[in-house]
Amino acid sequence: MRFTWTVLIMLSVGLPIRAAEPPNLAQIGVPFVAKYCVSCHGEKKPKADISLHTLTCDLSKPKELQVWQAVLAQIDSRDMPPKASKQPTDNERTQLLQSLTAAIKASGVVLDDNKWLSPVKGNYVDHQLLFSGVPAKEITGTKARLWRITGPAYEDYIDKLIKRFILGLRNYGEFRLTAPWNFTPQKDFPDYASAHRVGEAEIEYLLRNAAIVSQAMIKRHSGNVPSYGGYIKELATLIKAGMKATPEQADAVLTPTFRELFGREPSDREKERYGTFLRNTTASLGGAEAAEQLLIALLCQTEMIYRIEVPNKLGTPQKLDARSLSRSLAFALTDQLPDQLLQEAVAQGKFGTREEVAIQVRRILDDAKVEKPRVLRFFREYFGYDSAPNVFKDEVTLQKIGVRGARGWNADFYVSDADQLVLSVLAQDRDVLRELLTTTKTFAMTNPPQDRRGTKSDEYRLKKPNFEQDEQTLIKVYELPIKARADWDPKKTYDFPEGHRLGLLTHPAWLVAQSGNFDNHAIHRGRWIRERLLGGRIPELPITVNAMLPDEPHHTLRDRIKVTREEYCWTCHKQMDPLGLPFEQFDHFGQFRKEEMVVDREATADKKNLNKNGLPRQTIHKLVPLDTTGEVSGSIDPKLDGPVKDPFELIRRLAHSEHVEQVFVRHAFRYFLGRNETMADGPTLIAAHQAYRKNGGSMKALITALLTSDALLYRTNQ
Ligand code: HEC
Ligand code: HEC
Repeated sequence: MRFTWTVLIMLSVGLPIRAAEPPNLAQIGVPFVAKYCVSCHGEKKPKADISLHTLTCDLSKPKELQVWQAVLAQIDSRDMPPKASKQPTDNERTQLLQSLTAAIKASGVVLDDNKWLSPVKGNYVDHQLLFSGVPAKEITGTKARLWRITGPAYEDYIDKLIKRFILGLRNYGEFRLTAPWNFTPQKDFPDYASAHRVGEAEIEYLLRNAAIVSQAMIKRHSGNVPSYGGYIKELATLIKAGMKATPEQADAVLTPTFRELFGREPSDREKERYGTFLRNTTASLGGAEAAEQLLIALLCQTEMIYRIEVPNKLGTPQKLDARSLSRSLAFALTDQLPDQLLQEAVAQGKFGTREEVAIQVRRILDDAKVEKPRVLRFFREYFGYDSAPNVFKDEVTLQKIGVRGARGWNADFYVSDADQLVLSVLAQDRDVLRELLTTTKTFAMTNPPQDRRGTKSDEYRLKKPNFEQDEQTLIKVYELPIKARADWDPKKTYDFPEGHRLGLLTHPAWLVAQSGNFDNHAIHRGRWIRERLLGGRIPELPITVNAMLPDEPHHTLRDRIKVTREEYCWTCHKQMDPLGLPFEQFDHFGQFRKEEMVVDREATADKKNLNKNGLPRQTIHKLVPLDTTGEVSGSIDPKLDGPVKDPFELIRRLAHSEHVEQVFVRHAFRYFLGRNETMADGPTLIAAHQAYRKNGGSMKALITALLTSDALLYRTNQ
């Protein structure tokens, strides 16, 4: 028998689904518009040339459909009615959205239901409403879901299994049994519960891994009883019996195998499903084959691939059962299954109340021996500095800063130095966000993770007399007084020169990540600040716009970006460009500068520089004065608005804002809960922000608040 993924799906659990009937548009839409919109979009001088007073609800008319779609977009984004006008209640809004969405879909238009779940829509819930302090009417919780575990978590499980049973598989290098998914750095948090489905290709891959491990397990349980490592007696008995295996022998296997693989008993449903499967396979194919098929099925089980966050009973909301909750907690902080102490707490019934969960969260956060890669990953993804190595710098560009050859540039160093900085700030756990935004320190040339075991380890490099080319570049970019190896300590922080840097946004890792091949990316930098610190949102770049700056190397970036001052462009770009331009303080390698270099057209075209064919021998550059001014405008907290003279003034203002802290908390919520926040999560966010503040800007307190919130503890079916 060939084991296919359809068999697996049959053996897997499903999510309960319950759909409610949406209210009818005709009853809701017309009164809604009359109440909130026609004062501006009526008969006389309608705003934006859109009249809404004549709307019927007949969406078979193209014009009618078009207008209702525009209305949907405005209600969805909360852009209309304008802030100063009377606002519909949340209930009215929700009802209109439901009926309108249903009606538009019924007319044949395809709408993306998951649009609002996407990470880019994170800031769309109104910030002031969210933090308005209206108490939750009821327990809020998170929708029932399956959340794919991380690649490293899957790999860790397989690796431990191989070691525990001494399976003799070479699980390293090209033979390593890897997860079919892993995250590449991107602009937003890539690991949202709603973002990934495990498809056929991934299942095939997992199946192959499961088959390799299962065959090794069968081999291990055949022949003599080994005196070392893990061992399942009943499995060996079934295998040895071969074609003579009895149904009783088949039955005996299930429970001990579940215990060994998953650390739990099979449920009644599983006993029945897997039991029948096992007896049938034993009868037709014999004990060995049945054992193998069982192992394959179990190693591709839903819980191998997902955090299962589905309530046991219908009725809403329900507390997640202790075991699922313990897994969700472990996977929120680590890339491993629940550790010994957490498992014990579950077994002893001491992991259910909020306080009991808090005890475990604090224990894991406080124990330096428990690795918590998910916490560092949050900061990597929030700041986005980890994509620096993806930004290609070519040799000609490198030569401009005096680096010859691509070997002189290694952006991995910048990322690992930023990692170490984050970890050291986390170790202090005081004013974490402000510290990250305003520290003037850096680590230098710490090891990139991928090099730790290789020839570039700290120990190895410490023994070398001279710095490599890439190390020399780094010392120059950081402007550190390191002359010789003897001056260097990879475990130490160094001070950047006075007044040249302030926090991660001026760290070369972030600056390089937010740059292009030849230029700074002022627009992206501005967007980052607008979204990640100010909590603003910018509509996506329209596809009709040719988003290219003029190719004029004799002009500064600040000059070239003036194309976005055109009225149409400026509605979006005024929210980004003035926030990103202060970072012109640095070049696109992250070097501090006092002047800017541009092409000198006159000197390049001068007779003295032309060869006999009349072409310039070389491109000649000149220095022009640097302009680092910018402006904060249109922020939710008006105290933040106003001009800034340089990036340092900008950063200081942001770093001391409570509003910015709240926006940070919103992002932490999204990352640790794997979804966007909704209005109902307001109280959770306020509590998390309070916890952070009251504990002196403690990330531990913030994470504890999030991971003991209703959003983690409760699941709803709707
Ligand atoms: C106080 C006056 C006012 C009210 C009330 C108002 N609008 Fe508007 N609306 C405007 C103005 C001004 C514009 C054009 C400028 C803009 O987009 O901000 C506009 C633009 C629009 C647009 C076009 C947007 C675009 O970008 O194409 C739509 C659609 C719209 N409104 C729908 C609504 C709906 C639906 C309501 C009721 C829920 C509403 N408006 C209530 C003033 C108003
Ligand atoms: C509806 C909002 C909006 C409008 C209107 C708009 N842009 Fe943009 N633009 C954006 C966003 C958002 C980005 C950032 C995209 C990203 O993050 O990659 C962007 C990026 C850019 C970039 C940088 C592209 C890159 O990735 O290097 C340029 C150049 C640009 N816009 C030019 C223009 C010009 C010129 C106009 C007017 C003709 C314009 N934009 C109008 C939203 C807008």
